[in-house]
Amino acid sequence: MPEHGGNLSAAARRWGIPPDAWLDLSTGINPWPWPLPPLPPEAVHRLPDEDDGLAEAACRCYGARHALPVSGSQAAITWLPRLRPACRVGVIGPTYAEHAHHWRLAGHAVLTLSPDAVEAALPDLDVLVLVRPNNPDGRVIPRDTVLAWWQALRARDGWLIVDEAFMDATPQHALAPLAHEPGLIVFRSLGKFFGLPGLRLGFVLAERPLLQKMAESLGPWSVSGPGRYWGEQALRDTHWQSRTREKLQQGRVRLGELLTRNGIVPVGYSSLFQYVVMDDAAAVAEALAALGILVRHFPATSGLRFGLPGEAPSWRRLARALSIIGGD
Ligand SMILES: Cc1ncc(COP(=O)(O)O)c(C=O)c1O
Repeated sequence: MPEHGGNLSAAARRWGIPPDAWLDLSTGINPWPWPLPPLPPEAVHRLPDEDDGLAEAACRCYGARHALPVSGSQAAITWLPRLRPACRVGVIGPTYAEHAHHWRLAGHAVLTLSPDAVEAALPDLDVLVLVRPNNPDGRVIPRDTVLAWWQALRARDGWLIVDEAFMDATPQHALAPLAHEPGLIVFRSLGKFFGLPGLRLGFVLAERPLLQKMAESLGPWSVSGPGRYWGEQALRDTHWQSRTREKLQQGRVRLGELLTRNGIVPVGYSSLFQYVVMDDAAAVAEALAALGILVRHFPATSGLRFGLPGEAPSWRRLARALSIIGGD
C-alpha cells in the first residue's frame, strides 16, 4: 500500500510526542479551510438526494459540462481502472503513488514514465495518467503538450487521465472545461484547496456515458449527506475561493522565502506546498520531527514536501526549528 502524509498517530508513537502537539506540514492541505456552516439535520436524517444541486455546482465551479460526485477523488483513482479491460498504462512519475498502484491491482501493465519519455512510449499506451499540478514537485506540464498526447490517445479510444486535485488555486491551467470530450477524464478534490479532506468529496469530469458507467459501479449514495450539503455550498462560494487564492499565493511565497533563507532551496511548488531535494533530506525530516514538525519525506527522490503553516505561531515554530537545525 502506498504511504501518505498526515499520519500523526504513527509519528506520535515513533517520537513520543502526542498527536495534538505536532505541527503537521506533511500534507498539501489548505490550513485556512472553508468555514463549515451549521449542518441541517435532514442532511443525515434522510438518504442523500442525488438530484440536489451538487453536480451543477461542481460544473459551474470547474467550468465543466458533466460532473460525477465521488467520495474523494481517491474513489475515482480506485475504481476507474476497473472500467477498462487489461491494457497498457503510462503514469508520469514520480507522483501520487495511488494511481500506479490501482492500475496494477486491476491487472493492467503499468509503466512509470518521466515527462521526457512520454513521446516515445505513447504509441504503445492505451492510457496515460498525469497529475497536474504534480504532487510532490508541483510541475505543470504545458497545456499544448498534454493536449497533443490526448489527441493521440483519443484517436485509438485511449484515455488521458488528468488528476487536478491541486488545480483549484490556478484554474486558468485547468483542463476540466474540455473533459466532456471523448478520451479525457479529469479528477477534482475538495480535500486540498477547500481544506476539507475528511469530507471525502471529489469529482470525476468526463463524457456522460463514462460517468454513467462509473456511477453504476460505485452504487447509490456513495457521497454522504453532509458531504453533499457542505460540498455544494463550498463550490458556490466564489468570494471565499478568490480570497483564498490570494492568501495561498502569499503563503506559498512566504514559505519559499523562509526555507531559502535557511538554506533549503525549493525546486518546485504548488499553491499548497513547497518541494525540496537535498542529499540529507532524511536527516532534515528526522531533525524536524524531533522538534514536533512533520514534513513528508520521499526517499526515492531524496525530496521533502512542506505544507503551509497556518497561523502566526505555526510560522514562528517552523522558523525557529529551521534555525535550530541549521545551527544558527
Ligand atoms: C494528487 C492527488 N490526487 C488525489 C488525492 C486524493 O484526494 P481525495 O481523495 O481526498 O480527493 C490525493 C491525496 O493526497 C493527491 O495527492
